Amino acid sequence: MNVKAANSWTTNNALGRNGGMTQNSSLDTAGPPLGWNTEIPHSARVYDYMLGGKDNYPPDREVGDELLAAMPFIRGVVRANRAFLQRAVRFAAEVGISQFLDLGAGLPTSPSTHEVARAVDPDARVAYVDSDPILLSHARTLLPASGGRIALAQADVREPDRTLDLPELQELLDFDRPMALMLIGLMHLFGDEHNPYGMVARYVERLASGSYVLFSQFTADFSPETAGELERISADAGEPVAMRTAEQVARFADGLDLVDPGVVQMPYWRPDGALPADSEKVFLYAWVARKP
Ligand SMILES: C[S@@+](CC[C@H](N)C(=O)[O-])C[C@H]1O[C@@H](n2cnc3c(N)ncnc32)[C@H](O)[C@@H]1O
Repeated sequence: MNVKAANSWTTNNALGRNGGMTQNSSLDTAGPPLGWNTEIPHSARVYDYMLGGKDNYPPDREVGDELLAAMPFIRGVVRANRAFLQRAVRFAAEVGISQFLDLGAGLPTSPSTHEVARAVDPDARVAYVDSDPILLSHARTLLPASGGRIALAQADVREPDRTLDLPELQELLDFDRPMALMLIGLMHLFGDEHNPYGMVARYVERLASGSYVLFSQFTADFSPETAGELERISADAGEPVAMRTAEQVARFADGLDLVDPGVVQMPYWRPDGALPADSEKVFLYAWVARKP
């Protein structure tokens, strides 16, 4: 199977369609949608297809079906990740957080961060950040009807200060007040050569006390065969996914107070009903923690 396609839902540059990215450029000045071509697959729409979203086209579904044929369980995994995102955002909103910084946000497949947060707090503010200009131009067409208090910004999140200092974020979010920093389905894209722990520590350093971090990442501790297959496919595509152990995942929360139940296999983080079938196979860890 096409390794680029197989890797497409995990990475930014898969399928090689993201050329011409300008880091930190504002969407407001980005001009018309950049190369949004529905005749070729795009990683974000393939992911949207896996999630059961509506923002995908036949070429995206073709790649999605190829992936599913190779790794049938992958749909359950991406859905578990999205379900965790929703539970964690709801949790943060319920403890009083009204601003959300969603890094590596992907397409706003419904219910997205702002929809979940606003079900609790109609005034919640959400900044979506992603490096992919094509994805952002599409997200921009999906979000205008959502009533302001939403920012979409393009950045390479491996640069925390440049990201946090973007005018779109500075204008929308009050960094003197607690917020939720979302690192969901993101950090496994960055191996140790990208200084992932230093990167997260710098984001956390700039958060106000009382802020929360919402986190998920791949591991080979569960379903090692499928996790290994994804690892192999990603490496073959030149965009390796960094699987991490429970201990390595917990290290990202150093200096934070983990919210119960701590670092757990994702579906077991405060499930809001009966666990989906095959939850024990989901090869991601998740946690939520509070900055003291
Ligand atoms: C698998 S998606 C996760 C989407 C969403 N957070 C979720 O969990 O459903 C990973 C996202 O990270 C983005 N991404 C990858 N590398 C990035 C970088 N260096 N800076 C910002 N975003 C990046 C990709 O474009 C993609 O949209």
